Parts: sequence; C-alpha cells; structure tokens
Amino acid sequence: MIHRPGAPGHLSGIGATALGVAVLRALESRRPDRLFDDPYAQWFLDASARPAGLAESFLRTMSEQVAVRTRFLDDALLAATRGEHAGPVATCDQVVLLGCGMDARAYRLSWPAGTTVHELDLPDVLAFKGAVLAAHGATPACRRVEVAADLREDWPRALTQAGFDPHRPAAWLAEGLLYALPPEAADLLLDRVTGLSAPGSVLAVEHMEDSPLLRSARADVSRELVDLWQGGPAEPLGEWLTKRGWIATVRDLTEVLAEHGRTAPPAFDPAQPGSGRGRLATALLRATSQSFSRGA
Ligand SMILES: C[S@@+](CC[C@H](N)C(=O)[O-])C[C@H]1O[C@@H](n2cnc3c(N)ncnc32)[C@H](O)[C@@H]1O
Repeated sequence: MIHRPGAPGHLSGIGATALGVAVLRALESRRPDRLFDDPYAQWFLDASARPAGLAESFLRTMSEQVAVRTRFLDDALLAATRGEHAGPVATCDQVVLLGCGMDARAYRLSWPAGTTVHELDLPDVLAFKGAVLAAHGATPACRRVEVAADLREDWPRALTQAGFDPHRPAAWLAEGLLYALPPEAADLLLDRVTGLSAPGSVLAVEHMEDSPLLRSARADVSRELVDLWQGGPAEPLGEWLTKRGWIATVRDLTEVLAEHGRTAPPAFDPAQPGSGRGRLATALLRATSQSFSRGA
C-alpha cells in the first residue's frame, strides 16, 4: 500500500476497472509464453487497498482477450511512432492514451527518441498511478505527460493545454473504453479525436460486443460491472471510422488470437451460442485535398 499524502489507497467506480485490467496483465506477464511483460501491473495491485475481486469465470473469459489486445495495440502504437504504418504518413511523435488507467506503455515500450505520451484519465486514477510509479522510482521510456480530465467534459482543451499539437500527426489509443460509452458518447469521442488529428494520425481501437456469455461472466463479479456496458458505437467499427475519414483495418479477435496460438474463450467464439465478437482495429487518417493544399 502507498502511504503518501494525497495518494488514494483504492479506486472505486469506473476507475476500479483499470485495476481489473492490471490483474489480467499481471497474470499474462507470469506466463512463460507471455505476449508482453508488464511488471508494473503487479505494482498497482500491490498498492491497492482492495483486491480487484475478479471471479474465476471472468478471468477465464477475459484473460486471452486482454493478452492479445495488449500485444496488438503495443505493436500498433510502436508502428505509428516508428513511421511503419502503411500509407503516406509522417511519423507520429505524440501518443494519446484515452482512459489510460494502469496502462504502463509509457514505461515498458521502446519508444523512438522524442516521443511524448499523453496519459488521459480521471484525476484520482492518475494520482493513484503516479504515486505508485513514484514510490518505485520508475522512469518513463519517453516524455510522459499526465492529463487529468473527464472524457465527458472539454478534454480537448486540457490536452492541448498540456502541449498536444493538433497540427502534427498523433497516435491515439482507445482500449477498454468504447464498450462503456453509449453510442452518442462514442460518436462524440471519435469526432473530437478526428478534430484533433492531423492527416497521417493513427487510431488504435479495441472493442467488444456485449453478449449473454460476457454478461454472465460480469455478473459473477458485480452488478456494477454488468451495467458498465453501454454498447459503444451503434455501427460496425469499420463504418464508424470510415465515415469520419479514417482508413480502417478491422480484425476479428479470433483471428488475432489464432495468430498468437491462443484459443478464443466461449464468450468470443462465434461457434458458441450466446457469444459476441471482439474487434481490434487500426485506422489511418487520410490526407484531404485541403490538407495537401496546406502543405501537410
Ligand atoms: C477498463 S479501464 C481501461 C484502462 C486502460 N485503457 C487499459 O486498457 O488498461 C477504463 C478506464 O477509462 C477511464 N475512464 C472511464 N470514464 C472516464 C471519463 N469519463 N473520463 C476519463 N477517464 C475515464 C477509467 O478511469 C479507467 O481507467
């Protein structure tokens, strides 16, 4: 536990879901065939006053999804910052982690020199996270900027005030977030991201459809976790992104799991009654004729 003034010993409500993801990342990090290594996840759990209290059925349902999505999104963000994303793009030297929770990518990935990672989340979540990292003397592998903001409020202003430059391409991450937004809030989020994105920006996204099997696993944890699912975008992910000028590549979770030799749990296996689909996507913001004429 952390005993620093002003450092909360636990997170409640939506912030607690970030610790749930940390449980799953810590479990993956212990596997000999792990897809990533996140030692920071265990630090956050050790510092929490309350155990995350996840039921076995929920862990079984979510562990492979979180393992594979973490690796997929690690690769997508690194590719964007290294200029490896297909298309006529500049390298993205700024990254924004929306609803970052206990995401330790700023510390554990090998970012190119000159990368800034903006971590946006609610103030109590960032305070807890920052206190744990400081207590361990952790050093980020990039320039890390905390943006304490509420995604329901004017977060674009908070982000730009923190130094984000909307005229330069950025790599954005929405992970563990879309499912908790009602469709109109998901649309607003994407409209704002698009409005802040210069051509050549990359958006990496993870999404899960709700389903009877997923609901039942959540019900084994808490009523609150059942109700957290608000559906996210009303349209299929590809259309949702394309409509706003993003060139999207959407993968089914089962395909990505298979590439890593992992098996889809029943909740994400289309062959199982009561399952839903998981998606992983990357999208590149195309250059408009306007932006070309501005010399972007
Ligand atoms: C399920 S966690 C995922 C965290 C992280 N992206 C990951 O995958 O490890 C959802 C995160 O979104 C944050 N969040 C939810 N609603 C938010 C809001 N209105 N404003 C800012 N952050 C929010 C929560 O605090 C939490 O850290």
